[in-house]
Amino acid sequence: MKTEVLQPTPQALARSAEILSAGGLVAFPTETVYGLGANALNRDAVLSIFAAKGRPADNPLIVHIQDRAQLKDLCEIPELAPDLMAAFWPGPLTILFPKKEIIPSEVTAGLSTVAIRMPSHPLAVAMLRSCGLPIAAPSANRSGRPSPTLAAHVLEDMDGRIPLILDGGPCDVGLESTVLDLCHGQPCILRPGGVTKEMLEAVLGMEVTVAGSVLRPLRPNEKALSPGMRYKHYAPNGSVTLVEGEEADVLSALRRLYQSSASSQERACVLCFSEHMDDLFDCHPHSLGSKSDHAQVAHRLFHILRQLDQEGMERIFSEVLPPEGVGLAVMNRLGRAAGFHTVSAKQVLADHPI
Ligand code: TXA
Ligand code: MG
Repeated sequence: MKTEVLQPTPQALARSAEILSAGGLVAFPTETVYGLGANALNRDAVLSIFAAKGRPADNPLIVHIQDRAQLKDLCEIPELAPDLMAAFWPGPLTILFPKKEIIPSEVTAGLSTVAIRMPSHPLAVAMLRSCGLPIAAPSANRSGRPSPTLAAHVLEDMDGRIPLILDGGPCDVGLESTVLDLCHGQPCILRPGGVTKEMLEAVLGMEVTVAGSVLRPLRPNEKALSPGMRYKHYAPNGSVTLVEGEEADVLSALRRLYQSSASSQERACVLCFSEHMDDLFDCHPHSLGSKSDHAQVAHRLFHILRQLDQEGMERIFSEVLPPEGVGLAVMNRLGRAAGFHTVSAKQVLADHPI
């Protein structure tokens, strides 16, 4: 199959509507990451998403809508949902709703809830309007790869597997949406994203919990609240080690880890904040963005993870952010990229004396 990459024109939108209505797949930009869309009400179309991504069938999809009126056919509406929709839709918040019959069980992997979001990216909105369908869309990467934040990333993973990519330029947020469960007691963040715990709590006036597996691996026999948490994700080919501690210790520890790796002929690098690029100039530094601008770090992260593979990096040593605000989403993705392998800078300095 030839994969077309089209700039946003009325013709490109008409083509996307034609493909989606016929049960085909279209990759499109959202404000978070690029999605791989199909008609959410067409079982076969939904199955072809799983085939194109190589995605396990038990990992459910998010349904994208552009008009709140679409909800009444798709799901029940929990009591807390309207305030959240008023505050954060359109935007990077996915809410779980009790599903109605019309949603095929393939979309929800057999669960009784369906994840729904209303994206704000103008091209996503235009595409949803022009086809008039609810669109099931996971991130448009091959399963296990970092989510795509550019049309070129989608092409890297999906060339020859899908007919059309709509090119809307770089995604704004750069990390996937916040996934919030309102269906099982206290509101719980299953996946942190651009809409933070603090922002949700301010609107709801109550505490919002965060699923335990957001910042650590699932324990043996622990049930994944969000099936996606079970899978290895976002992992570059090289091994990633996160270094935490006081800033000065972290910088020294990064240098020693880099030097020890480089002296054993491994292709190594450090991921550090832009403020530390000069300090670590001889450690093959890659900038995560400014330590005082967490949104910038979120925006850059997946792009950097893809770049590390292109450069054939084998060992990657990284600084960390405090897990607050958007920092929680960054640390969830970086943590998973590292298999949650974190070391203390003090320990590294003790283990690698000069
Ligand atoms: O920003 C985003 O959310 C992007 C764009 C394209 O909208 N989409 C995205 O989809 O990241 P995906 O499939 O890569 O991630 C969806 C996550 C998975 O972790 C999945 O397990 C979880 O949402 N999920 C979906 N439906 C669920 C449900 N009913 N219950 C629990 N978790 C669910
Ligand atoms: Mg994904």
